[in-house]
This record gives sequence, C-alpha cells and structure tokens, in this order.
Amino acid sequence: MPTTSITLDVNGSPHRLDVDNRTSLLDALRERLDLTGSKKGCDHGQCGACTVLVDGRRTNSCLVLAVSAEGSDITTVEGLADGDTLHPVQQAFLDRDAYQCGYCTPGQICSTVGMIEEARAGMPSHVTTDLTDGEIELDDEEVRERLSGNLCRCGAYMNIVPAVHDAACAHDATTAAATGTGTGTGTSTGEATTTPAAAATTTAATAGTAATAGTAATAATAATAGTAATAATAATAATAGTAGRAATAATATDGATR
Ligand code: FES
Ligand code: FES
Repeated sequence: MPTTSITLDVNGSPHRLDVDNRTSLLDALRERLDLTGSKKGCDHGQCGACTVLVDGRRTNSCLVLAVSAEGSDITTVEGLADGDTLHPVQQAFLDRDAYQCGYCTPGQICSTVGMIEEARAGMPSHVTTDLTDGEIELDDEEVRERLSGNLCRCGAYMNIVPAVHDAACAHDATTAAATGTGTGTGTSTGEATTTPAAAATTTAATAGTAATAGTAATAATAATAGTAATAATAATAATAGTAGRAATAATATDGATR
C-alpha cells in the first residue's frame, strides 16, 4: 500500500511519521504516537469520542486522514493542561463530576473547548434564534445542541451541562482579566450556572477528587478560575480526596484509559 512521510504537529511538538495513506488521524495519534486520550468509539463519525482540535476547530479524528492533517496544529486532550494545572474545562468536569466511566470524557472536553470558542466568535447553532447579536449566549439549550455530537453511554449529561457553564464562566473571567475589560461574569446562562463565588465553594469542596492532579495544581486552578477560594483552602480540601476517586478523576481528564 502507498505510504507517505508526514510531519504532524501535535500538542506543540512535531512528529515525523511514515503512514499508510489510509491511516486516520485517530489511528495515527493512538497507534503511532501513543496518545491514547482520544478514544475510538464508533470509528464512523457518530459518537464524538475521538474529538480533537485541528487548528482550534473540534474535529472527529476518525474521519480525517493523517496525511491531510499535515501542516495543521493538532491538540489532543493530553495537550490541554498547562503543566500540572488543568485546563478550566478539565477542572470543571472534575468539579461537577461530569463523567462516569470516562470513555467519552476526553472527547467531551475537547469538544467543549472548541464549542466555547465558537460561541464567543458568534458562530450560530441550529437553536440560535438571534443571528445578529455577535457573541452567542450559552444557555442550556445551546450547550445541549452544540454538544449533541458527543454521546455518553453512561448518561452523564446532567452534570456535563453545568460543567460547561462553569468552564464558560471561567473562560470569560480569564478573557476579561487578560483584556482588562468587563467583569468576567460571563454570558453562560444555564440554570445550573454557578457564580464565581459558588464555583469557589464547589472547587474547594470537591478538590479531593483531583488529588492526583497535584495539590498545587488544584490550588492554582481555583485561583485561575477567578474564584474566592484561597490556595490554602483548596490544598486542604485536596488532601481529603480518596485514592479511588482520585484515580478515577485522573483517568478521565488525562485520557489514560486506553
Ligand atoms: S470514534 Fe470518531 S466519532 Fe466515534
Ligand atoms: S462517562 Fe461513560 S460514556 Fe460518558
């Protein structure tokens, strides 16, 4: 079979590969680069478990040929965290207990990262009613519609939706802090949306679930999210985490489950 030498830029690093021209991006990531966070659920573009970001846009990697991804910036779930500090979307999924087995979770997280950027850029969805308003308000209906391509066989949707709202609020707070504009209160308006203060409580109360992510990381994330939680509070809460629960949390957010 014909092969091609390609270079894939994944999570900021170039990877030189000789691939069968039929190789999907998902298989290249998992089987050749050992980045097994992206999951193979259906291999037909129907479940979203394989979602990665290609040039910032969420993409079903099972439907993309590896050879066609050359020259693009590819981000997998393994590339979202900043060192020991989880990405706000990863942290929100932990805090909200937005997973059960965790198999769909890397795809849900990558899809959420891309989806929040799409909404902020004013890209409408099927349920968007006002197409003239620029930035899209992420209410529950918008979140459910925009993530409808990511299926969860465990039915964790009830906690995924508030996790997305938390992440959207954290995103707004970070953007406001970076630009020096606005109050960072966000435009995520779902019923389960937490205020920054409530998020602080949640973060501190559930920090134990992220114990394996590192006490320092948990404390740093609480601070990054613009919450009122102190590093000391989060660190204290983190020490209360059980080993079993912490293992589950780590698996879900770094995609270690193969
Ligand atoms: S494995 Fe790609 S969409 Fe299901
Ligand atoms: S958490 Fe099990 S499939 Fe979604």
